[in-house]
Amino acid sequence: MASLSSEELNRIRDSVNIVDVVASYINLEKKGKNYFGICPFHDDHTPSMSVSEEKQIFTCFVCGASGNVFTFIKDYENISFVEAVNKVANFSGIKLSQTINVVKKYDKEYKAYDLAIKYYKNNLKSKEGSKALEYLKSRNISEDIIEEFDIGVSFLESHLSKLLINKKFDEDMLVNIGLVNKKEGIYDIFRNRIMFPIHNNFGDPIGFSARVYNGEVDTKYINTRETYIFKKGEVLFNFHRASVHAKKSGYLILCEGQMDAIRIYSSGIKNVCATMGTALTNYHINLIKKLNVRVILNMDSDNAGIKAALQNGELLRNNNIDVSILKLNDAKDPDEYIIKFGKEAYEDSLKHAISLFDFKLNYLKLNKDLSKADELTEYINDVINELNKYNDDVLKSITINKISEEYNIDKNILLNKLIKPVNPIKEEVTINVSKKKSNQNIKAIEEVLYYMMNNVQYANIFVKELNYVPEQKYLDIEKDIQAYIILNNTINMADFITYEMNKGKDGIIKEIINNHNNDVEMNIEEFMEYIKIIRKWINTSKINSLKVELKTVNDINRKKEIADIIARIKRESEEYGK
Ligand code: UTP
Ligand code: MN
Repeated sequence: MASLSSEELNRIRDSVNIVDVVASYINLEKKGKNYFGICPFHDDHTPSMSVSEEKQIFTCFVCGASGNVFTFIKDYENISFVEAVNKVANFSGIKLSQTINVVKKYDKEYKAYDLAIKYYKNNLKSKEGSKALEYLKSRNISEDIIEEFDIGVSFLESHLSKLLINKKFDEDMLVNIGLVNKKEGIYDIFRNRIMFPIHNNFGDPIGFSARVYNGEVDTKYINTRETYIFKKGEVLFNFHRASVHAKKSGYLILCEGQMDAIRIYSSGIKNVCATMGTALTNYHINLIKKLNVRVILNMDSDNAGIKAALQNGELLRNNNIDVSILKLNDAKDPDEYIIKFGKEAYEDSLKHAISLFDFKLNYLKLNKDLSKADELTEYINDVINELNKYNDDVLKSITINKISEEYNIDKNILLNKLIKPVNPIKEEVTINVSKKKSNQNIKAIEEVLYYMMNNVQYANIFVKELNYVPEQKYLDIEKDIQAYIILNNTINMADFITYEMNKGKDGIIKEIINNHNNDVEMNIEEFMEYIKIIRKWINTSKINSLKVELKTVNDINRKKEIADIIARIKRESEEYGK
């Protein structure tokens, strides 16, 4: 959106009242100065989202979602910033100076895919498609599901290539996005397969997963190869539909196959997506992290599925995502399970998902005869090894108690095998003390920035008094505030959020808004108190590094110089102090 000026963006934002816009999505109730509603970004039961008419921002004090009207629409509808701006402009009937119709970077590519999807789906309705349709029916895929997931079929002849070339799509582009092949003529990549469209997080079509259906001896699924719009490591099947539902229900189900995701989704549990048989990547993890929800891993029941659950589970846990594991009995995958036992049974099984650790304990038991001493010993050692990876004393105690009782082994023997004894109390106390102090400093910085984002005068005082904060990420945003004021001569939080969003840097603002206590009125005394805390922090760290230097230099003159500087800083601090 480089083409829209920041004045225009601000004008659009200012043309609506955030209260009206949010109220068109969720129920709001006025309490005091602010409006409150059930937060749509997490599994909320009491109204935790507040909307400030005065500041034109929203914030949820439980999940941390916050921002201006653009943020709300963008996150609620899972659309891009540009699209959100367009929606707000539409809301108040503003005509944009440029790019009224948002043209996406890969618009042509998506259009080609849209056409391909329509073409394949249409095939299913033709006479030639009857076999494929029969196959889908035999797998309990109803018309509704076909419609919702745009399922289609490709034939042997290369009709799609001809259609797309006729529509003037560029041949090389079609080759590069994996729809057609060009070698002694042009022909379709996908032939004689059931076609499942795959989308990116924004819901743009970027590829296909294509399945044999005629009993051919061939690879079961062929997926679009890696292209500049289809990146295997970034795709999660059905994520664009599932994310809103995941935020609402507070969890996301991850399964392996797209057929599983389709089955679960169409039985009404819509917070589900599929890894498509590959391991989770860091990209996926970040995508999931943004949802701020629990994950239930529901992989296939075979060995490969168990391995995938362990590996993906480990990765999620290491990234602080709350994960539990659902292993289904008497069915090879969720699709088969729901067909066999029904959706109620599946829904019920979700309640019995177990922790990653319990899943591992079960896994370690597999194929072991624990009545034999050597196999039992091996099992116990495996459990202890596993426990040693965790930093959780409660878990350690419970597990040791459990296996000591279950297998009649002396508890002390087991405890002695733990690398770290269960006694870190002293350590924790010291950590807490220093944490508290740094929290106080961070709080001061965040509050000062909060004030600055709302009022030029506070920003001016800051420049005069400190003009520096000793933490890079805050320093960055502080520089941005100053730049914004120079550009606009004024500042308010809602517009500054837009400015930072455009730079992809609104994450820190979210933290700042969220940590701010909304009930406290802004006033100069409080602001100066925070300035004082930051100054003290800056001075203490200056003095500390000077003291280090004092110890290491030999030159007597330099030593004296340093001592003078330290004394001066101390003196000045005292003058400012109290
Ligand atoms: P599965 O073999 O578990 O698929 O592979 P599925 O969902 O049970 O398929 P159906 O029920 O037989 O139709 C899991 C996923 O791995 C990918 C696909 O995305 C599939 O959904 N896969 C599988 C491939 O890419 N190629 C293959 O040959 C097989
Ligand atoms: Mn299956």
